[in-house]
Formats: sequence, structure tokens, C-alpha cells
Amino acid sequence: MTSRQIRQAFLDFFAARGHRIVPSAPVVPHGDPTLLFTNAGMNQFKDVFLGTGKREYTRAVDTQKCIRVSGKHNDLEEVGYDTYHHTLFEMLGNWSFGDYFKEEAIGWSWEFLTSELQLPKDRLHATVYRTDDESYEIWKKYLPESHIHRFDEKDNFWEMGDTGPCGPCTEIHFDRTPDLSGGPLVNAGVPEVIEIWNNVFIQYNRTSDGTLEDLPSRHVDTGMGFERLCAVMQKKDSNYDTDVFQPIIAFTEDLCGKSYRTELDHPDGVAMRVIADHIRTLSFAIADGAHPGNEGRGYVLRRILRRAARYARNLGLTEPVLWKHVAILC
Ligand code: SER
Repeated sequence: MTSRQIRQAFLDFFAARGHRIVPSAPVVPHGDPTLLFTNAGMNQFKDVFLGTGKREYTRAVDTQKCIRVSGKHNDLEEVGYDTYHHTLFEMLGNWSFGDYFKEEAIGWSWEFLTSELQLPKDRLHATVYRTDDESYEIWKKYLPESHIHRFDEKDNFWEMGDTGPCGPCTEIHFDRTPDLSGGPLVNAGVPEVIEIWNNVFIQYNRTSDGTLEDLPSRHVDTGMGFERLCAVMQKKDSNYDTDVFQPIIAFTEDLCGKSYRTELDHPDGVAMRVIADHIRTLSFAIADGAHPGNEGRGYVLRRILRRAARYARNLGLTEPVLWKHVAILC
């Protein structure tokens, strides 16, 4: 399947289950001073979770542009040197606002991955928060216990920042090892076993003094890494080998006359991955109203722009070339 077909399949699957398809919010979170950039699909629904806002629907599905380059979620330094972190990525999400909860969320994520997308069941592992027996029991309907793992707050309690809506989560990981031996590699930070989908059960609000308050209702916030899912579906070891990134990389290759190298430590490969990643972040951020500058959000963008330009020079591209890549994204 192409990346476009994968995205559409996700939206259609949840629309058929009563979810309203809603647009991505801008990557610049106008109106939320706690964030420099939209870092998760749930940001635009924060008011609904806190009980201070309402929507005219209780189920939604979307694909959200997210930027993770500052604050609690910051992947900038990994980018270019691995196969699956990005400064900008799309997060496919389905949402319940005080409507369905764990049973449906887990059941539908299993059905989407194994029936709709036909991913092999024996390559899937689930993680649950250490005390979340309810999610553990639900997963037992779908997975053997050797594929269900308990982790603590670091991996299975999701928070958007220092304050805000949060709760325990259950993640789905995909095992790429040839002999299906990836169980011990879940959450080990290796590309052989990667997290593809996080289902968060939003129940609490973290206040500025660090305490957890119960929210008026319980909600579901899910986020699936679109570029990772494309890699898994297209049977690629690296997100950069999918149709999401290959056209950008091919363009850089043409400009500099060098071939893309997939080795993680090859300087030309690192440089082309950095450019392919950073041009997406810069383009979407600027299109959504941010500008490179001297402080705050603008300074973060300026650092990304400089980083991309530095790697372009490493490829021998001494003229300004980043702007030329924008046309490939359109
Ligand atoms: N909020 C969760 C995350 O960002 C799930 O969407 O991972």
C-alpha cells in the first residue's frame, strides 16, 4: 500500500465506527502557552479532556502534524542517525471523549492492524502500565502472555508536558527480527522492535504542583506513528526508505550528484536523512505561521534550518538549496 492509501485506510476504518474525521491542528499551538509546537494529536482536544470545552461529537479520527524538538518530547539529536525518529511526523489518532474506553480502543487497534492491514499477529507485542490489570486482561484475548509486557511510568504513563491531561497507556510494538525473538527488545530503543501505536487512557490532570486530579470523564487518546506504520507496511527497515521520504532524498541526490547511503554512520546518508526530515518541519511550521528567529519557537526553527544547511554543505551543496526541496513536498 502507498502511504496515501494507509492514511486513508485508517480514517475510513474509524469513520465506519462512528468517528468524525477532523483536520489536523496547526503545528503552532495558537492559544496554548505551555507548548512551543504541537507535540501530540491530543493538544487540540486538551480543553475537552479538562472538561472546559466541548465538541459536537464524542468520537473523532485524524492525522495530526506533530513537531518534537523542545520540552518534554524532543527527538532532534536522534534525527539523521537512526531510522525512525523525526522532528516532524504525522500521528494517526482515534479519540473518545467520555465515550468508549479500553475494551473498544484495544479491540479496534487489534482489528485495524491484523484484519484491515493484515499485519502478522506473531510480530505484535503490547505493553501496559504496571498496575493496569484491565488492559492486560483485554490483551489476553488477542495475544499470548509472552507478548504482553508491563512497564512503569517512563514508558506507560503518558503526559503531554509538565502539566495537563494524562493517564496510563498501552503501546503496540512491531517485531522485525527474522526469528521473532524480539520480546526482550521491546522498549530497548532499537530499530528491530519499534513502537507503532500508543493508546492513552486519559483519566487525570497533572497540576502545576505535580499532583494528579481525577478528570470529570475518562477519554481515549491514541497516536500511531504514520511514517513507522508505512515502513512496516512497505516492508522497509527504515522510515526513510518509504514513499514518504524517498522523493525528497532522490531530489537531494540529483542536486549533489551523490547516491543515498542507507548505512547509519555514512556521512552522506546522515546528511540526506537530516535534510529530508528538517525540510518537512520547516515547511509545515512556516506554512502554519511560525518564522525562524531569535527567541522561543523562532529560535528552535532557526537551529533546525542551520542544522539542515550545515548537512547540505557536507554534501558539497554550498549554494542555498533547501528552498528547492519545498516543491517536492507540495
Ligand atoms: N498522546 C499520545 C502520544 O502522543 C497518544 O496519542 O503518544
